[in-house]
Amino acid sequence: MQNALSDPWHYPRLALAQKYLAIFDIGLESARGIFAKRRMGKTEFLNKDLIPAAENAGYLTAYANLWENRDNPEQALLSAIILALAPQGVDKFLQRFTTPIKKIKASGKIAGMAEGGLEAELLDTSKTAESDLAEVLRNLDKTGKKLLLAIDEAQVLADADNVGFAHALRSALDVRKGTVKVIFAGSSENTLRRMFARAAEPFYNWAPLEPFELLGPDFVADMVAKVNALCKFPLQVSTAQAAFVELNSTPDFFRRFLTQYLTHAQLGVKAALQATKTQVFNDAEFINYWKSLLPADKEVLKMLAEGVADLHGKDARIRLGHTLGLDAPVSLNTPQQALKRLQADTIVIRLDHGEYRFEDDAFAQWVRMLEI
Ligand SMILES: Nc1ncnc2c1ncn2[C@@H]1O[C@H](COP(=O)(O)OP(=O)(O)OP(=O)(O)O)[C@@H](O)[C@H]1O
Ligand SMILES: [Mg+2]
Repeated sequence: MQNALSDPWHYPRLALAQKYLAIFDIGLESARGIFAKRRMGKTEFLNKDLIPAAENAGYLTAYANLWENRDNPEQALLSAIILALAPQGVDKFLQRFTTPIKKIKASGKIAGMAEGGLEAELLDTSKTAESDLAEVLRNLDKTGKKLLLAIDEAQVLADADNVGFAHALRSALDVRKGTVKVIFAGSSENTLRRMFARAAEPFYNWAPLEPFELLGPDFVADMVAKVNALCKFPLQVSTAQAAFVELNSTPDFFRRFLTQYLTHAQLGVKAALQATKTQVFNDAEFINYWKSLLPADKEVLKMLAEGVADLHGKDARIRLGHTLGLDAPVSLNTPQQALKRLQADTIVIRLDHGEYRFEDDAFAQWVRMLEI
């Protein structure tokens, strides 16, 4: 497990980690959802603060990033829980597993496991992931230990394709509120809100959702002290604070600025800030992607960004027809195919009832600003 010791540049957030553990300890809540824009430090907090703190408090811990395995979020989650259980000596049951867990094996994280003990990569589709989940959690029950489950990029669960699994997860967790504590994290506030706030959703009313506490002046001061311990040209805290604000108070961008400064300190702060801005506020990625799109796909994205609810409706199809130089509305097939392509590119996710969302709120914002 990575922790602050293995990354000297990590700014520890023990108090925030303790806050969540205390909430879970009191027992009134067994889950929380946190959201913040991209690159604000959610993943780093989960892995380098919350999980180590939970381990110190006697929890087993599991971290699953659903985005990394978005076609198969159940596999990501199962693998994470299996990894958490492996040191508990319950690896025998893994042999019966149907879920391919090559990744675990490759990671070498299960030390001392008997050769051939993980033949689970045999993909036997006779069992469903839901029953795998139930079985894994029954093995957790046997350990008598509490589990802290960190589900990163949790918005993937809102995808209509994952609704069955989301329901199964919710019911499996519902009966284990005392022993499994869950923290959901994600960058799309809209999608997370929908997951937790709509009566039709599996996670309705299940986890209070709150903004992730952002890094601020203390983080900047701590980082400056670290830089100054290494650098002949000391950085003023006030200058660094101003740079942080100019970089949209984004820790990721600020770290790049510090790297830039450390590498070329003699050029001064201004040059480092300018170089960082050029690097991070460059929307070349969005522009290139946009250029690669077909006209219908662009129009669909524009409508989605504007909040058009029915992308298959007559108004939308008239608009698409217009874009394509036709006097008549296009057929249903046009928005359908466009949305299919955009989903395949993981730009758009499909929620139920023909409702779609941008995966990345920043790209939605960028499209909204387009004047083409
Ligand atoms: N506590 C911290 N100490 C030092 N650096 C940090 C800290 N938190 C975040 N950072 C910096 O910010 C970067 C981005 O953080 P992280 O990947 O956790 O963001 P995120 O909110 O999970 O973003 P995304 O939504 O894109 O997944 C890290 O790689 C690191 O450079
Ligand atoms: Mg992240």
